[in-house]
Amino acid sequence: MKKSHDNTIAAQLLGHIDPHSAGVTPSLQMSTTFVRDAKNALVRPDNSYGRDQNDGVRLAEDVIAALEGAEDALLFPSGMAAIAAIFQALPTGSRVLVQSGIYWGTTKFIGDHAAHLGMDVDFIDTSDERALDQVTSDYDLVFIETPSNPWLKVTDIADIRKRFPNAILAVDSTAATPMLTKPITHGADIVVHSATKALNGHSDVLAGVLCCASKDDLWTRIAQNRQVAGAIIGAFEAWMLMRSLRTLPIRVERMCDNALIFARHFEQHSAVEAVWYPGLASHPHAARVQRQMPDGGGYLMSLLVSGGRQAALDVISKLTLFHRATSLGGVESLVEHRQTIEPHTGIPENLIRISIGVEKVEDLIADFEQALSDHA
Ligand SMILES: Cc1ncc(COP(=O)(O)O)c(C=O)c1O
Repeated sequence: MKKSHDNTIAAQLLGHIDPHSAGVTPSLQMSTTFVRDAKNALVRPDNSYGRDQNDGVRLAEDVIAALEGAEDALLFPSGMAAIAAIFQALPTGSRVLVQSGIYWGTTKFIGDHAAHLGMDVDFIDTSDERALDQVTSDYDLVFIETPSNPWLKVTDIADIRKRFPNAILAVDSTAATPMLTKPITHGADIVVHSATKALNGHSDVLAGVLCCASKDDLWTRIAQNRQVAGAIIGAFEAWMLMRSLRTLPIRVERMCDNALIFARHFEQHSAVEAVWYPGLASHPHAARVQRQMPDGGGYLMSLLVSGGRQAALDVISKLTLFHRATSLGGVESLVEHRQTIEPHTGIPENLIRISIGVEKVEDLIADFEQALSDHA
């Protein structure tokens, strides 16, 4: 297929036609093992065992790699499995810089495993240029997340590339999706997604993906470890993910439109202390957002209600349309009181994390309006 626009790549899954049935959608091939002929040669040399590969997994990876402008992609059974795979493939003694205030599961994994993986880890706020100016060390790996969950900080990927020219730069782009930022074009070496979130977008598949700018030594180790350690996504999950990828561009477009209207509305509300959303002109990194996310601020935001912990819990208890559930990036809108989940990370106790879906935005606004009405 000639180089197409993202919407076309996604809708047609790179123009894939099922070779067996001529169907316009991929078939679901669940086999865990593949046959050899009488001369003991694999009938399909690229298929031997399900832990190594599967046609559906490969196609899903090709589609995501095309959307990211990557040389290759590898699917994992969850976002955390993908993130762990990077750190597990690093040589012992690696010096690592990790953005502070990112998804707490990532921070916990790195904190718990740094010692036995032999890593020397520094955490700093990579969205803060003054903090970056203080850094004098060299690193083997720099790991950032932009926009960050749930602080919604936007790190300048190109600036990080310039500051650390010799480091492998890994970017968790879950909250941006390839529709809003393609980190490789800004200098990233590895792009990470929890595909559980917007890539799948229907809250019914756990998946993670890594994409690479080029198949270097680290990438080769990650790919080999995935096979040997068996951290591969199931064929059914990959098939479900492909089904969802076909509508990724239009889902993200609608979520961004909804999120911007919602954020602008509540930014002005008397019962709201602040709204953190990259698409707002008031966002501290608004100029950076314009450069790095020109087509939209994403689907994730944090709303800080006036008052404390109880005020936030009262507001979310009154919501009737938003579901009170963890996760993000689905077609349905979700809220979560993050301080309940990560009380130790300094998240403000009046913060409500919001993942905006594709519903009618007027309905979403009306739900929060009624929930906030006693707090004005
Ligand atoms: C930014 C980010 N990265 C990674 C993950 C982990 O993904 P998963 O839950 O698919 O393991 C999450 C989960 O919330 C996330 O928000």
